[in-house]
Amino acid sequence: MAGENPIQWFPGHMAKTRRLIGESLPLVDCVAEVVDARIPVSSRNPEMEALCRGKPRLMLLNKCDLADERATAEWLGRFREEGCRALAVDCKTGAGLSKFIPAVKGLLREKLESRREKGMAGRAIRVLVAGIPNSGKSTFINRMAGAKIARAEDRPGVTRGKQWVSLGGGVELLDTPGVLWPKFESREVGENLAFTGAIRDEVLDIETLAARLCEVLAKSSPEALRARYKLGGELPGQGSAVLEAIGRKRGMLLPGGEADTLRAASVLLDEFRSGKLGRITLERCGKED
Ligand code: G4P
Repeated sequence: MAGENPIQWFPGHMAKTRRLIGESLPLVDCVAEVVDARIPVSSRNPEMEALCRGKPRLMLLNKCDLADERATAEWLGRFREEGCRALAVDCKTGAGLSKFIPAVKGLLREKLESRREKGMAGRAIRVLVAGIPNSGKSTFINRMAGAKIARAEDRPGVTRGKQWVSLGGGVELLDTPGVLWPKFESREVGENLAFTGAIRDEVLDIETLAARLCEVLAKSSPEALRARYKLGGELPGQGSAVLEAIGRKRGMLLPGGEADTLRAASVLLDEFRSGKLGRITLERCGKED
C-alpha cells in the first residue's frame, strides 16, 4: 500500500460529504445505499447511520455478479437480521432491480399509508442514492431510468446539479448521487477498496497491492488463482513470488529473462476486478464453512 496511513488520502472530504448529504436529506423520503457486494463492510461509510439521521435506508449489494452467490445470500440475511432492508443487484445487467421499487414502497409503508389518509397519495416518493465512489451509483440511476442520463463517472468529487429522475410508479431518484467517502479504518479496509478498484491506481503502488491480493487469494480462494494462471502445486507464501509465477506462466518476461512483475500485477488486478478469476467475495460475514 502507498503510505502507512491511507486515511490521509482524502483529507477534508468527509466534511463535504456531510454537507452534501445534509443538504439533500430534507428533500428525500429515504436513502438507497449502494455498496459493493464483494466488500459489503469496507465499502460502507461507517458514518452513514449518523449522516442519515433516521431516514429509512435500503442497502443495495451491487456488483453481485462479481461476488460469491452464497456469501451474498449470507450478507443479505445478516443485514435483514439487523433490521436493515437489503437487495442483491447487478446494475450492469439490471438483475435484481425489479425488486427496487417494491422494496422502497415496503420500507415506507407507514409513511405512504399516512399520506393516503391525508389525501396526498399522488406525491412522489423521493430517494437519495448514496455510496462510495465506484460502487455503481451512476450505473444504478442509468439502469433504473432506462436511459443514460447520469454520466458514469469514476473520478471522485465530480459535482453535478440537483435533478430528479422519474422512474415511474411514483418514485423519483435524486440524480446527484451522494458521494460517501470511504473511511480507511484499517489497513484491511484500505486494501479491500484498492483491490476492487474503489481507489484510483495512480495513488497506489500496484505491484505491492497485487502481491497483497495474491496473499489474500492464496488463503481464501487458492483454487481460483491456480486455475486462472495454471499454477500447479502449493502456492508460494509470498505474494511477490506468486506474481512472478503468474508473469512466467503468461510469458511476461523482461529482457534479462526475469518475470515482469509489474505487468503481472496489472493483469491480475484487471482480471480480478472484472471477475475473470471467478465470483469472489473478499469479506465474509462469519458464516464460513
Ligand atoms: P459511481 O457512480 O458510484 O462512482 O460508480 P459507476 O456507476 O460509475 O460504476 C463504477 C464502475 O462499476 C463502472 O465500471 C461500472 O460499469 C461498474 N459497475 C456498476 N455496477 C456494476 C455491476 O453490478 N456489476 C459489474 N460487474 N460492474 C458494475 P467502469 O469500468 O468504470 O466503467 P464502464 O466502462 O464499465 O462503464
